[in-house]
Amino acid sequence: MADLDDVRQGKQYFAEIPMKSEPFYLKGANHYDWGMSNRLANIFNPASGRTLMLAIDHGYFQGPTTGLERVDLNIVPLLPHTDTLMLTRGILRSTIPPAYTKGVVLRASAGPSILKELSNEHLAMDMEDALRLNAAALAVQVFIGGEFETQSVNNLTRLIDMGNRYGIPVLAVTAVGKNMTRDARYFRLACRICAELGAAYVKTYYVPEGFESVTASCPVPIVMAGGKKIPELEALTMAWRAVQEGAAGVDMGRNIFQSDHPAAMIQAVSKVIHEDMKPQDALELYRTLKSETP
Ligand code: R5P
Repeated sequence: MADLDDVRQGKQYFAEIPMKSEPFYLKGANHYDWGMSNRLANIFNPASGRTLMLAIDHGYFQGPTTGLERVDLNIVPLLPHTDTLMLTRGILRSTIPPAYTKGVVLRASAGPSILKELSNEHLAMDMEDALRLNAAALAVQVFIGGEFETQSVNNLTRLIDMGNRYGIPVLAVTAVGKNMTRDARYFRLACRICAELGAAYVKTYYVPEGFESVTASCPVPIVMAGGKKIPELEALTMAWRAVQEGAAGVDMGRNIFQSDHPAAMIQAVSKVIHEDMKPQDALELYRTLKSETP
């Protein structure tokens, strides 16, 4: 029934308090539509403005990677400690409980296996399926300087056009070929190109010299890729430096799921990302958690 007999005059309008118009907390993201921003808020924790993405998409070109042989047993127990999961739609549908309500970033480019030229990728899913799976973002590999550079850039721009139509952000992943230089100059080039072409955020590798120039010259958030497994303290130090030098979090895989104790490691990385915990303290936390749950 309509509320006709209890109409109050003026009391609840708080006319003296102007409505706030808060800027969105992510770099370069002030002018997105609500759906795009809402999806990004399901990736980047609104409290810290950063994300711990757990990357488990490696199987899309290299099959059952060490540590990912049984996603149900090795990864599902880690889900409570993630902000976001980056994976393929096949693993999502087959193995991840739909009760997982944090952001899901789906791998949307594919083609060659490790046996072939990796830059020869094409788009590997359409927007309708991304919506069906409630994706928070789609990820596409971009091979700046690679053999199929133009093709991979075209994958990026087509995906961004499709994503913009439906409010789905695109994560550009800067892929580095075997013989390519990994320095700040290269990553400035690659990240800036991805942002200029419309990526909502960019994933790239950490470099010890000049990483802050990579983040500063990229007008959208950068997340650091983990790379090959290294000792825990080194991985925690790399993550700490990356966020101190402007990264909005990490997209880390092997350094978590190939750790001696993945559950302890992901919690230690989370403290580094969200609470600026120093690497040595995070290592102590890792050791304590590891000893408590062998
Ligand atoms: C490459 O296979 C994927 O894009 C991974 O998501 C990415 O390399 C991050 O995983 P990791 O930390 O193991 O390098």
